[in-house]
Amino acid sequence: MSTLELGVRAAVVEDADGIARVAASDGTQTRTEILPLIRTELEEIASGKLHRYTCVAEVDGTIVGYGRCAGDDTFTKGFPQLPDGWYLSGVLVLPSSRRRGVGRALTQHRMEWLRERTEIVYFLTSETNVPSVALHSEFGFVEIQRGIPPKTGDTRGIPRCLFRARFSDS
Ligand SMILES: CC(C)(COP(=O)(O)OP(=O)(O)OC[C@H]1O[C@@H](n2cnc3c(N)ncnc32)[C@H](O)[C@@H]1OP(=O)(O)O)[C@@H](O)C(=O)NCCC(=O)NCCS
Repeated sequence: MSTLELGVRAAVVEDADGIARVAASDGTQTRTEILPLIRTELEEIASGKLHRYTCVAEVDGTIVGYGRCAGDDTFTKGFPQLPDGWYLSGVLVLPSSRRRGVGRALTQHRMEWLRERTEIVYFLTSETNVPSVALHSEFGFVEIQRGIPPKTGDTRGIPRCLFRARFSDS
């Protein structure tokens, strides 16, 4: 995959199925289970009800990854110790498309979008997620807190690390 074939753009409601296909690739939920959740979120973003942003990465018109941002308190709900603010709230690339710059392009796009809206950006990842930590460190994220327990009610989750980037530092 050359960089010329890869494009990143804001997601629209019609992308729900393509995003659900990528989301299902992590094995947590099936495409059928996750599709209505994704469609509702995209509709609420489009209507302005939800303070979030989702973008998709396409190769030859097929969605191979997506990235999300959240600036609403429903994202931090269940994590009482987390600061309010804008978060990179998830990035996922199809396993067959990894290590080709897709995650980087999705993160670059979201950071450019956020730069217009905030001075500080956070993200959470599990303490063992080496790819995620390596990817985000390129964008100036530094660890500020470890051992954040899983969300209230999440019995399968593992401790997370909180990272922060300041645009004034870059
Ligand atoms: C994390 C993830 C999004 C990276 O996507 P990707 O498209 O493979 O990433 P890129 O190809 O853009 O990689 C950019 C950089 O990230 C780092 N990186 C990516 N995958 C890595 C891996 N498996 N091991 C170590 N570093 C890795 C490298 O520094 C890489 O640069 P390089 O390829 O020039 O060495 C992808 O692995 C994924 O979807 N993982 C599952 C979901 C997840 O954990 N998301 C993050 C939650 S916060």
